[in-house]
Amino acid sequence: MAQSSKSRAARKTSAWYHRHANDPHVKRARKEGKRSRAAFKLTEILDRYDLNIRRNSVIVDLGSAPGSWSVELVRRIGPEGLVIGIDLLPLHPISGVRLIQADFDSPEGQQALQEALGGRTVDMVVSDMAPEMSGDKLVDQMRMIRLNEMTLYFARQYLRDGGNVLMKTFMGEGYDAFRRDLGASFKTVKNIKPAASRKTSAEFFLLGTSFYR
Ligand SMILES: C[S@@+](CC[C@H](N)C(=O)[O-])C[C@H]1O[C@@H](n2cnc3c(N)ncnc32)[C@H](O)[C@@H]1O
Repeated sequence: MAQSSKSRAARKTSAWYHRHANDPHVKRARKEGKRSRAAFKLTEILDRYDLNIRRNSVIVDLGSAPGSWSVELVRRIGPEGLVIGIDLLPLHPISGVRLIQADFDSPEGQQALQEALGGRTVDMVVSDMAPEMSGDKLVDQMRMIRLNEMTLYFARQYLRDGGNVLMKTFMGEGYDAFRRDLGASFKTVKNIKPAASRKTSAEFFLLGTSFYR
């Protein structure tokens, strides 16, 4: 029994590596020196929806490791802006990015972000966070929605009027109620599945634009 479940796990891992190694976005990321293929999801969304990131913007990047979104954001906002990244994992430093290693969903993480902001309002909150998968679909879904709710809670505290939020989510239990809640604070809410997101992945992104109180 143990033997057969082990070989199933090994087969799954090897299938993942095969898919990963042959993924065109992984190959492109390697060729262009990106920290991860996730970079293309963000650039596609920013460009397609013309999010007009100003040179001096303040952007908070939730779940920032290994750092490809932060690298792209700091490139767009220039040295006058500020990118703050937070992740459970450590990151190699990125010039112009203030990195915090902490759990976003913890009082310590929230405190560290508040200190890093130092009273500034935020132009955009982006989140590529996803929970560590337990294998139990309902548990994972509830954890994802929890991260979404925390992201919205954070955005409501720090976004400037007219600011934007972009966050990864999954369709399932709790999603409809969350989307309605998001719609109560943003003029428009869009569901986006970027081309760089694997078709087999349940992930997609919610983009809320023009925040209002
Ligand atoms: C898909 S990766 C992000 C990739 C990143 N956007 C990039 O371009 O390099 C998701 C990240 O979310 C982080 N994460 C998940 N839950 C978190 C939490 N509660 N607090 C902070 N980071 C979290 C994970 O550690 C992981 O590094």
